[in-house]
Amino acid sequence: MSNSPLKIGVAGLGTVGAGVVKLLSQQANLVSLRSGRDIVITAVSAREPNKDRGIDLTGINWCHNPLELATKKNVDVVVELIGGEDGIAKELVETAIADGKHVVTANKALIAHHGTQLARSAEAANVAIAFEAAVAGGVPIVKALREGLVGNKVSRIFGILNGTCNYILSEMRQTGKEFDVVLKEAQDLGYAEANPTFDIDGVDTAHKLSILTSLAFGSEVNFKAVHIEGISQISPLDIEFADDLGYRIKLLGISRQTGTGIEQRVHPCMVPIDSPIAHIEGVFNAVVAEGDFVGTSMYEGRGAGEGPTASAVVADIIDIARDRILNTFTIPAKELQKSKIVPISDHIGSYYVRFMMLLYL
Ligand code: HSE
Repeated sequence: MSNSPLKIGVAGLGTVGAGVVKLLSQQANLVSLRSGRDIVITAVSAREPNKDRGIDLTGINWCHNPLELATKKNVDVVVELIGGEDGIAKELVETAIADGKHVVTANKALIAHHGTQLARSAEAANVAIAFEAAVAGGVPIVKALREGLVGNKVSRIFGILNGTCNYILSEMRQTGKEFDVVLKEAQDLGYAEANPTFDIDGVDTAHKLSILTSLAFGSEVNFKAVHIEGISQISPLDIEFADDLGYRIKLLGISRQTGTGIEQRVHPCMVPIDSPIAHIEGVFNAVVAEGDFVGTSMYEGRGAGEGPTASAVVADIIDIARDRILNTFTIPAKELQKSKIVPISDHIGSYYVRFMMLLYL
């Protein structure tokens, strides 16, 4: 392992990017001790150079074009925090890999749409593409599946993967506030996506679920196979009825290996009040994995926001500093299989149906 400092280029200085800069500066000694070498940010790129982000960028190279980071001599790891499934984020990651640089990203849309190909390119180039921050924020679920549970055959994985939706559903139930008011709060707290319809329509959860599916089942990432419903149809009345019936409404992402293929679905679920997942409230996420030897295990923590997401990004950077570069999706990327898709129409389950009836006397 090299003792020389690991040089980082950060693209994107929004909530998460600023959090990464803060963490690496405030915990520099701890990070250095644990990594066995210093980790230094040598270059950054963002839209507005003069914006006050509450971080000190003295001595750090400012790149007006993020693509410069991908080929810069004084950058070993590109941290992509721009977001978006295509465009500049994809170009940056592809160019960095082609230049032999490691990549750390929080970009779930990018990995959900192009994860298989990017993993194949990275593994062929002998570099890492790491995305702990892309799924469930500060919850180390990628590490759990890739390392702690690696000896298990996973039969099912499910969870609350979107902090914004969970925050909205929890606040609506606890305070009786309107949907729009609570969504605005989630945006102000830095939880929601730039385009919050991705949160409330279930797309963000589906991005994360498709990544977990690949990690758990060794299949190619297949976002298009996910059946998606969001929470915008849920009214305070449904939340109240669910409570009366002994349930909480949660937006779940569920992925299951069946006898015929892999089922992936995202939709609001009524979960029994006495189940552990019913008590995951606010911005917290939780993921439940069922393995053949380990049984059921659950992982919980903050799924969005500056600190938790920065914590996940830095964990990936430290792995690279320690030369711990594992298969991106647990098995070698070239071995990932196309899985047979089990459509939602094959799903047998219980449904909640509410009728509004007019009574004429
Ligand atoms: N908008 C996402 C969420 C951010 O609310 O969970 C973290 O991925």
